[in-house]
Amino acid sequence: MSRPLPAVVRIALAAALAAALITLALLLAPRGGGPGSPAPAVAQDRAAEIEAAIDDWLARMTVEQKLGQLQQLDADFPTGRLRDDQLQLVREGRLGSTLNGRGAANTNAAQRVALEESSLRIPLLFAFDVIHGYRTVFPVPLAEASSWDPAAAESSAAIAAEEARAAGVHWTFAPMVDVTRDPRWGRIVEGAGEDTYLGSVFSAARVRGFQGDDYARPDRVAATAKHWVAYGGAEAGRDYNTVDTSERRLREWYFPPFRAAVDAGVASFMTSFNEINGVPATANPFVLRDVLRDEWGFDGAVISDYTAIRELIAHGVAADDADAAQLALNAGTEIEMVSRTLAEHGARLLAEGRISEATLDGAVRDVLRLKYRLGLFDRPYVDESREQAILNDPAHRREARRIAARSMVLLKNDGGALPLSPNLRRVALVGPLADSQVDMMGTWIGDGKAEDVVTVRDAFEDELGRRGVRYAQGCDAECRSAGGFGNALAAVRSSQAAVVVLGEPWSWSGEASSRSRIDLPGRQEQLLRAIDATGRPYVVVLMNGRPLTIDWAARHAPAILEAWYPGTEAGNAVADVLLGKVNPGGKLPVTFPRSTGQIPIHYDEKPTGRPFDPANKYTSKYLDSPNTPLYAFGHGLSYTTFALSGLSVSPASTSADGTVTVSAQVRNTGRRTGDEVVQLYLRDQVASVTRPVRALRGFERLTLEPGESRTVSFRLDRDDLALLDARGQSVVEPGAFTVWVTTSSDAPGLRGGFEVTG
Ligand code: NOJ
Repeated sequence: MSRPLPAVVRIALAAALAAALITLALLLAPRGGGPGSPAPAVAQDRAAEIEAAIDDWLARMTVEQKLGQLQQLDADFPTGRLRDDQLQLVREGRLGSTLNGRGAANTNAAQRVALEESSLRIPLLFAFDVIHGYRTVFPVPLAEASSWDPAAAESSAAIAAEEARAAGVHWTFAPMVDVTRDPRWGRIVEGAGEDTYLGSVFSAARVRGFQGDDYARPDRVAATAKHWVAYGGAEAGRDYNTVDTSERRLREWYFPPFRAAVDAGVASFMTSFNEINGVPATANPFVLRDVLRDEWGFDGAVISDYTAIRELIAHGVAADDADAAQLALNAGTEIEMVSRTLAEHGARLLAEGRISEATLDGAVRDVLRLKYRLGLFDRPYVDESREQAILNDPAHRREARRIAARSMVLLKNDGGALPLSPNLRRVALVGPLADSQVDMMGTWIGDGKAEDVVTVRDAFEDELGRRGVRYAQGCDAECRSAGGFGNALAAVRSSQAAVVVLGEPWSWSGEASSRSRIDLPGRQEQLLRAIDATGRPYVVVLMNGRPLTIDWAARHAPAILEAWYPGTEAGNAVADVLLGKVNPGGKLPVTFPRSTGQIPIHYDEKPTGRPFDPANKYTSKYLDSPNTPLYAFGHGLSYTTFALSGLSVSPASTSADGTVTVSAQVRNTGRRTGDEVVQLYLRDQVASVTRPVRALRGFERLTLEPGESRTVSFRLDRDDLALLDARGQSVVEPGAFTVWVTTSSDAPGLRGGFEVTG
């Protein structure tokens, strides 16, 4: 094809100028887009020019070339290279993007084929699942949510973006913002837990971290809000399973973190594998068009999940590939990941009028817009000399260590068992995860390498010297055999104290990793009971990707630290906390049930007509279990203590559009500097529809020195007070509201209230 038309030339020049300015800004600016930073500023300024350039492209493209832009294929995962048949498609203009293609040299080589050997010369787009780090692996997202520190998630996403972009990756399939109340579902590890409000705050933070305020910059990537939508509602917690949920739940539970991503400028959406009320998400015009486009005005690209378009056949809504392609594209799914139904049948569908040219062009427009916003027409190549310098940079590792320690939750600490005494000279380090590099990274590790990981054993050997640590694994993570227990018990008996590191193998959470029982794997509890029976002092560290039912441990272990999967710096961060160099301040973003029979269990339950009354059988309860969880949402201890006082709610009465300020003092009443997460919960006492018994509406993590006191203030506005009435309208209804300022969803805290007048 001939040379680009004038608009394309104009935009390339404008982009070159923008790129020079960006590089200058990069040198001068600190990291971080900052809360509320507009996205993507440069692209917005050039919006009209981009649209004109896309018009030019569309006028020149054949149907096959258009369909090519909608095709994404899976490069060779281990090497990150495109295969020969894929490069041939690039040459023919029939491949717009890849996933798993990565590495500066690999991506540049493939890009050269697109730009030098294809007729159209549209740059390729390289996507990759950069979920919690690229080479430097940060804590899993569920862990980062436990920090209740969105700035930490923003920082880790920014570093992940910098490393990924240096390795030629433009586009991440993150953040995963699925709310779920079912810890059997393995993908709970990838999100921010059970709460819509916390999930929305983390969703926006991660989008800002990945994209900054302009993802054309050479240290940012385009983000994807996934999986749209309600994937976390899979029946029985079984991955890919059916979801049947009311529109109220969609709007109250599942939508808000996606909306927060849109408001933060997220570049793209990915459809989910599940059906929603009978219509698979990938072919669901209600969520893809009515809500995402018409209500929210989203102008980014929408990609299917892996082979999800072809899976419409298995769902039983499409008879064949052509049918699947037609349904998906017409519903609003634009890019097809891995299956090839659109590429193979799109031309015929167009000729038969089953898809329209406008629909096809609209989808191609969104893909090209993404490429423009990424600056690919101007800077398609990546500087190969930067890659090695940036991956695993010591500064990135320091931040990974800080965030990992910040993400840990002290579930229990009887008698100040933790921190360990500084006088310890001989520690037993036992348990399947104490020295397992691969497990400590968790699932979705990008290009992380097990050999980079510092284990708990490494860190303790660094601290105490090799002779100060007696290590015995006891069993591997699945713990099918008790053959190694003897050595573990001998290590415990011959040491002053033991650190027992238990948990799940990394592959037991994440995609396709649902469990029907969420207890400690195999015989791990048996190992723990045997250690307990020695009578030696010990503490438990958990590494896992979901809440676990650890009722016995919760009753018997002196101390339990929930470390989740902490990433590359796992061992150092665990040692920092166990040895008291870092005072833990994380809080649970998800409820720990006592048993799987309690699932789904979440703090913001609805009141029932027969609330629990121990004296009355005919109230809402179990015969064989308390209703309460083992550990509540928002729970987490510290090595110091805090007290709340002086609640103020002002004004006492307001209008529906008014604001209410809630404040209280928090004081460190202990002897160590420490962090508290002050949490604000709200209840609309009497409304036209039932409201949760408590709903999180604000939080702040603070560091206080011993004796220090600080005032925390929260502002509640219309969005916080509103509900969806029976007709689905968002309204603030007059009446009494109760507020709690507290330190856990199940702690009484300080209670007050205000009135909304009619
Ligand atoms: C399937 C997963 O559901 C999705 O989250 C991921 O981004 C894609 N595979 C690509 O790896």
